[in-house]
Amino acid sequence: TLAFFTPKQLAGRKVVLTAGPTFEAIDPVRGITNSSSGKMGYALARACIRAGAEVILVSGPVALPVPPGARRVPVASALQMRDAVLAALPGTDVFIGVAAVADYRPAESAEHKIKKSAVDRSLALTPNPDILAEVAALPDAPFCVGFAAESRDLDTYAEGKRRNKKLPLLVGNLVGDGLGGDDNTIILYDDAGRHPLPRAPKAELAQHIVTHLAALLDARAA
Ligand code: CTP
Ligand code: CA
Repeated sequence: TLAFFTPKQLAGRKVVLTAGPTFEAIDPVRGITNSSSGKMGYALARACIRAGAEVILVSGPVALPVPPGARRVPVASALQMRDAVLAALPGTDVFIGVAAVADYRPAESAEHKIKKSAVDRSLALTPNPDILAEVAALPDAPFCVGFAAESRDLDTYAEGKRRNKKLPLLVGNLVGDGLGGDDNTIILYDDAGRHPLPRAPKAELAQHIVTHLAALLDARAA
């Protein structure tokens, strides 16, 4: 098959990815989450393995099997995700943040189930750490890749996030289009500009992203 001739673009590289949503507990039976399926992150993990990388997949709650060859670290909250990422980081060449991390969590999680009769019906929130920005700001940061799903002004928001978080590469997609489905339309943003890819299945897009990031990684080392 063709796979036999595919060059191992990430041979010898260690890749850490986040994928899926996070779950921020309100009480023992309730929480704040989102509709991320994890499909793009898992497809990317598979593509990295196929390219010869060692892969650690820090995953929020999803209904997907572990990609063969990956080590999955299951987490729920953003704080747990951050701890798992930092623990996996030593020796990492590439960090890819694909997870839809909750921007806020309940300021406190109730020990017992909150009753309908509770007097306080408001929910106090506190900001979560930005895992990707934190990793990218480390003195010995790996090559960091971000994702941005936007419902409008993709170019502006995507390039803004890439600059703010100091990322060499960011993958943007317009939602309404991608979330939950098997296909996606994405644009890659890097120092050279924007690179739109034709609409394709997530597995195929993942392959393109790996090829692109491997080239940037090699160029950086050279
Ligand atoms: N990200 C992260 N930790 C967070 C929030 C986001 O690691 N607490 C990562 C995501 O995994 C993604 C990128 O940052 O790779 C962009 O996430 P996004 O939610 O689009 O950007 P935000 O900076 O949170 O901005 P906003 O939600 O306001 O659009
Ligand atoms: Ca966000």
